[in-house]
Amino acid sequence: MAEDAILGFLESNKNISDSGQFAADVGIDHNEIINVIKSLHGFRLVDAQDIKKEKWVLTGEGKSYTVAGSPEVQLFLAIPPEGISREELQKMVDPSVYKIGCAQAIKNKWVEMGKQLVSRKVQNVEDRVKDLLLQIQEGEVVDQEDIDALKRRKLIALQTWKGYSLQRGPNYAPKRKKAVTDLTREHLQRGDWKELEFKEYNFSAKGPPAEGGYLNPLLKVRRQLQNIFLQMGFEEMPTNNFVESSFWNFDALFQPQQHPARDSHDTFFLKVPSTTRELPEAYVERVKCVHESGGYGSRGYGYDWKREEANKNLLRTHTTAVSSRMLYLLAQQKSFTPKKYFSIDRVFRNEAVDRTHLAEFHQIEGLVCDRGLTLGDLIGVLHDFFSRLGMSKLRFKPAYNPYTEPSMEIFSYHEGFKKWVEIGNSGMFRPEMLLPMGLPEDVRVIAWGLSLERPTMILYGIDNIRDLFGHKVDLNLIKRNPICRIGID
Ligand code: PHE
Repeated sequence: MAEDAILGFLESNKNISDSGQFAADVGIDHNEIINVIKSLHGFRLVDAQDIKKEKWVLTGEGKSYTVAGSPEVQLFLAIPPEGISREELQKMVDPSVYKIGCAQAIKNKWVEMGKQLVSRKVQNVEDRVKDLLLQIQEGEVVDQEDIDALKRRKLIALQTWKGYSLQRGPNYAPKRKKAVTDLTREHLQRGDWKELEFKEYNFSAKGPPAEGGYLNPLLKVRRQLQNIFLQMGFEEMPTNNFVESSFWNFDALFQPQQHPARDSHDTFFLKVPSTTRELPEAYVERVKCVHESGGYGSRGYGYDWKREEANKNLLRTHTTAVSSRMLYLLAQQKSFTPKKYFSIDRVFRNEAVDRTHLAEFHQIEGLVCDRGLTLGDLIGVLHDFFSRLGMSKLRFKPAYNPYTEPSMEIFSYHEGFKKWVEIGNSGMFRPEMLLPMGLPEDVRVIAWGLSLERPTMILYGIDNIRDLFGHKVDLNLIKRNPICRIGID
């Protein structure tokens, strides 16, 4: 309605000089007129210019005097011709009226405040204040002197009034065509698209905030561990193959073919491709011999080693498969160079899923390969590594791994839980694993491994692994989890 009134008026008139006046003329609320003007201006149907006017309006107190009369007149009228005691007079009017009224009436020389009596000094009074307030309320012009006096008494206040003057804009039309946002099948079928006005694209509109790029806590802790290894001078091993042959995952690590871990109850075997394409034949031959009849100081397992078993593809069950490949490559170099290697990546085991186990998790593995290393070196490196993770109280327990001897489980004292918790596994790789690879006889390899999930769950206070990894993870946890700063200092 307001829009029709404005556009209609401008069709036969040059301009609207005052939106306030216009609103009053057409009998529409000025705020409504203003909103429509803003919108029409935005689409350039009209060109509008701001106008600002300042006007005096009555304050609450001022308004009350237009009805009850000014306090000085109220007070004057309360005084009977014969006079009245102050106490009596006070009872007759409001306390604020009494206070202001006395002050003003004395100033006007209307009353006399005698010791005994308050009495009138004049017969009649005129309520100028009330009259002035009424004039201002009506928008009439009032003397500056009077304005100043009323302002001082806080009976009036200045209000800025905003409105517009406007005339037709470059896109003026007596009726606005609504711009269409989308071209639809119906528009095409009916042929409306020829007449329709389409809304222009706003290329400078801000898009919704990008929701992406949040790191899972596992990735944050992984980055910290990577930094710790790099600070200790370790190189990262390439771990980019989840699929591995049984040979590198087990046989090269001196894990016998009938070992329960090599069962499909524990390991995921691949159906396609079910076997590996190539293995280093001469080395395979040496591994077969060690398994069957020993050598390099070992008695071997004394069984019939089968190549088909070694060829089977699986999802690697530990990152030590990567370590065995790397050590073999190292052994193929012309001259031996000591190395410190690490890896942090995913491994897979056919496990029953519960609050601490999933069928896939991440392993952290470190190894040092050098001449003449001892178990003391392993213990020293473990102390160095774990103290950088904030675990300086360590204990070791003898353990068994087919590929290490001696082997040690690593325990750390957890100050929060007030108990020793197992944090990893370690050992020195067996000579019957290293020598068939071709490493020099005095070269020893110390190594350790742990899961990434365990420290991450402790650091982030997560007690169910399914809240950390997998389809049940709450995306808010991923968006809001704090940064991880272990090992920085
Ligand atoms: N591979 C072992 C595991 O999966 C960890 C380990 C790594 C043990 C290196 C000894 C040496 O638990």
